[in-house]
Amino acid sequence: MRREHLPSSAYNTPFMTTNAGAPVWNDNNSLTVGPRGPVLLEDYHLIEKFAHFTRERIPERIVHARGASAKGFFEVTHDISHLTCADFLRAPGVQTPVIVRFSTVIHERGSPETLRDPRGFAVKFYTREGNFDLVGNNFPVFFTRDAIKFPDVIHAFKPNPKSHIQEYWRILDFCSYLPESLSTFSWFFDDVGIPTDYRHMEGFGVQTYTLVDKTGKCLYVKFHWKPTCGVKCLTDEEAVQVGGTNHSHATKDLYDSIAAGNFPEWKLYIQTIDPAHEDQLDFDPLDVTKWWPEDIFPLQPVGRLVLNKNIDNFFTENEMLAFNPGLVVPGIYYTNDKMLQTRIFAYGDTQRHRLGPNYLMLPVNAPKCPHRNNHYDGFMNFMHRDEEVDYFPSRYDNVRHAERYPIPSDICVGKREKCVIEKENNFKQPGDRYRSWAPDRQERYISRWVNALSDPRITYEIRSIWISYLTQVSSLFFKWWQPLQSN
Ligand code: HEM
Repeated sequence: MRREHLPSSAYNTPFMTTNAGAPVWNDNNSLTVGPRGPVLLEDYHLIEKFAHFTRERIPERIVHARGASAKGFFEVTHDISHLTCADFLRAPGVQTPVIVRFSTVIHERGSPETLRDPRGFAVKFYTREGNFDLVGNNFPVFFTRDAIKFPDVIHAFKPNPKSHIQEYWRILDFCSYLPESLSTFSWFFDDVGIPTDYRHMEGFGVQTYTLVDKTGKCLYVKFHWKPTCGVKCLTDEEAVQVGGTNHSHATKDLYDSIAAGNFPEWKLYIQTIDPAHEDQLDFDPLDVTKWWPEDIFPLQPVGRLVLNKNIDNFFTENEMLAFNPGLVVPGIYYTNDKMLQTRIFAYGDTQRHRLGPNYLMLPVNAPKCPHRNNHYDGFMNFMHRDEEVDYFPSRYDNVRHAERYPIPSDICVGKREKCVIEKENNFKQPGDRYRSWAPDRQERYISRWVNALSDPRITYEIRSIWISYLTQVSSLFFKWWQPLQSN
């Protein structure tokens, strides 16, 4: 038998057994009274087989349920050791193993990969100083700037709770309260709203992190992935065709490309801002509805990501793969980015619900570097430990603190408040983006708005709000709205 047809190495007998290791001498017939039954409950193997089968699914991700993953490496190509003390970025040539998961956002685990939807681009770096998860999207911005509205955004985009159908009247009703969503709509309704596949799309870390050098000096940073094979998108008509013939076309494209040795590759760039200068900008750099203009904050090359290995098993390396933007390494830290702050909590919380409290022990999620503490036990603790001391400190155990590493030392003071981010500036960036396009791209963008706003359940009031927003983005929009306004 060829190696790939054998069960994993834990199963080292050629004979079938129960999960407890007892021989199974007949897996084709149930144990019955006489040749025709009834079936006996004492057929332990039958019962175990079904009890396991009926529990084969775990809760699907609340968002990004549909996804494909692959493995490879990240290699530093440019020295940025003057900006960060991150060990995995210490010098050109350094390679770090990674696993990447691409996804759609809104629909279920088995939904088509041709729908207009942001795409997830999540990278887990298994560094020598722990895992760094860069959990981004193929758009550089998000619909709302405060995480407290995230569940509402997702509810509005998810299918109607009554009919289970995604409907624009719900999306545009809710987002009419969020003029800041225009910047993300300028990607969503653009051609990039349906990438050709996962290989031909950009990735953005979206949130603002901090790079910390060994002296403690900090810079705000955003991360960007650029595919070396270029960005390609499906037209709306192509998406219908592709989706109609294969609802897993992007997963298949990724898998087949890697299997054929045509390894997908992205270049990693960063943009940085000195926090001392943030007040000089006409937007808040920690506002996740804003991108940082590349003419002011140029892209600086850092490295390359190569995916050269397909996963061996979808369940263990995709379904059980768990990302968390809270996972950073020395040299990379969070900022006060309000969305990021809440994400630091939400992902670990959802993984404990989806996979259990020991999700970080699963091979795909566990660090590949030595690691040690006293957080274990609970459901599915499969770590072998034989120590007698599971507290800290102890005179019987020589474990000690790691060497201290620098984190931002800015002083946090203020009264308790619930505030909007000042400098809302909701219309400039989507307007700049729209004006940068060729006329045919502008036309496709507008026609998608017109189509969405033509949902029969959209009221005159909601439509008028959007028309007002869009004419503030660009007065050029005005001519398009006359037929709609007269409806
Ligand atoms: C406060 C705001 C947010 C919350 C509460 C949130 C929550 C979640 C949750 C619960 C999941 C499912 C995780 C799992 O079950 O494995 C998820 C997945 C994901 N989120 Fe968010 N999210 C937020 C904002 C964002 C933003 C702004 C981005 C874009 C940068 C993003 C990108 C992703 C990606 C790419 C995944 C899929 C990870 C994977 O492939 O497993 N999320 N998010």
